[in-house]
Amino acid sequence: MARHLITSALPYINGIKHLGNMVGSMLPADVYSRYLRQRGHDVLYICATDEHGTPAELAAKERGLPVAEFCAQAHDAQKAVYDGFALAFDYFGRSSSEQNVEITQHFARKLNENGFIEERAIRQVYSPADGRFLPDRYVEGTCPHCGYDKARGDQCENCTRVLDPTDLINPRSAISGSTDLEVRETKHLFLLQSKLQNEVEEWVAAHEGEWPHLSSSIARKWLTEGLHDRAITRDLDWGVPVPADTWPELAAEGKVFYVWFDAPIEYIAATKEWSDEDPSTRDWKSWWYDVDAEVRYTEFMAKDNVPFHTVMFPATELGVREPWKKVDYVKSFNWLTYYGGKFSTSQKRGVFTDQALEILPADYWRYFLIANAPESDDSSFTWEHFTATVNKDLADTLGNFVNRVLSFSKKRFGDEVPAGGEPGEAETRLGEQIAELLAEYESQLESLQFRKAAAALRALWSAGNSYLEEKAPWLEIKTDQPAAALTLRTAMNLIHLYAVVSEPFIPATAKVMREAFTLENDTATWTTPAEAKSLTTLTPGIPFTVPPVLFAKLTDEDLETYKERFGG
Ligand code: 2FM
Ligand code: ZN
Repeated sequence: MARHLITSALPYINGIKHLGNMVGSMLPADVYSRYLRQRGHDVLYICATDEHGTPAELAAKERGLPVAEFCAQAHDAQKAVYDGFALAFDYFGRSSSEQNVEITQHFARKLNENGFIEERAIRQVYSPADGRFLPDRYVEGTCPHCGYDKARGDQCENCTRVLDPTDLINPRSAISGSTDLEVRETKHLFLLQSKLQNEVEEWVAAHEGEWPHLSSSIARKWLTEGLHDRAITRDLDWGVPVPADTWPELAAEGKVFYVWFDAPIEYIAATKEWSDEDPSTRDWKSWWYDVDAEVRYTEFMAKDNVPFHTVMFPATELGVREPWKKVDYVKSFNWLTYYGGKFSTSQKRGVFTDQALEILPADYWRYFLIANAPESDDSSFTWEHFTATVNKDLADTLGNFVNRVLSFSKKRFGDEVPAGGEPGEAETRLGEQIAELLAEYESQLESLQFRKAAAALRALWSAGNSYLEEKAPWLEIKTDQPAAALTLRTAMNLIHLYAVVSEPFIPATAKVMREAFTLENDTATWTTPAEAKSLTTLTPGIPFTVPPVLFAKLTDEDLETYKERFGG
């Protein structure tokens, strides 16, 4: 048994996430966590909402709510969707927690003591009409690169270039629209990442061999460009305050830390939130502090987050000069596109996670998304592909198998696993094949190859269908009742095995399948290839029930309805 710390990138608080966000972070992290738990490991899966920064302030303003209230509501709304997706977080925290304030301030003080923070005066946009500095998205104007006239101070949405508010042509305040803006000098804290370049490089070199190519290549690119000193404070009302004991002047001016400084620290702080709920049984430090070889830490994220997790957060952790746990494995994803184009929260293009659950239960989405995870390349969501996959893999290969076997057996042999027949050559062959496929499935999950794991799972389900076709119990029953009983009993054993091993992908359906059998002491959480081989967990006489259809077949009409509603 090993200890596994798992985190998925913290979703921004503003807005319900789309399917692309789901498949690029939380869902695979959940599949992996579930798998490891089933294998008996000690797993802690932590996530949280990323609540600071200008997008949160602006979204709150749009809704006419105080930002704290907006965030509280938005957190609950996101949590409800993740519950709907059956994401089994050990804790889903909030980066605005007091624990994050405490640990972020601690990190900043330590970085300062160690000479990695410097106060610098910079020139910033100030709005007399609003009586404040305007950081990031608080300024809008014309992009100096492409001429787009709604570019934001942090980035131009049109040409994607990263901007500084002072770069914009004809700038205006995003709060009041005032164009009476000036540039004033103000002091901010800078993280001297340039001083940490060598250490980060050494650290990356020691780990990247193990990482997927996508993660290591992005880390390398950033290191080659060189680590720049970065401003880690902002003039905002909402954020982790700069600690007054260390920087009284900046604190008095109301400066807070930049959202990307405190967000990754929330991985640690959310663990403390979890631990503070029940300190007698939970110890957050045992996951994060001085536990290097003891805990294996895996992070999940989309590729745009990789620089922060492979270079910048490690730089922060290194600069603190305390033994905080650093990531062991960075699992990153490309983009899921919607018909080849971008899913876009701001342009409401594509399918949002709450809408997905209105249409179909989570397991349909979980399976489809993981089976098509954008691992080696971007992958495209289309309704055609989605409905075809659901119909073929879930409704036919798995659902129909389960239903066919159980209803036929009930009709011919009653409510118990039927007796009769001795396993023969076909069962031996099936057992060997199942053991091999299961070993493949385990090995793909161990190495976090989600598409390949889905393919192995699908192959396991298919093997059952082939066996059933070969043995044809609906024919056997006419001439040889015990032979038909053996076939059905073996197929039921497959169903039980599928229930156990499909759980990481389709937990709700797996539960229904498992509960179809009244098996005493059915407590084993996993079936190993060696155990699976014999296909005799379910012995004659065990009562079973026939569950309702596991996956509905989607019709051409459904397809048209979806396309009409979402475009495609
Ligand atoms: O890109 C995003 O959605 C960010 N909110 C991810 C933050 S991950 C972590 F560092 F907090
Ligand atoms: Zn532009």
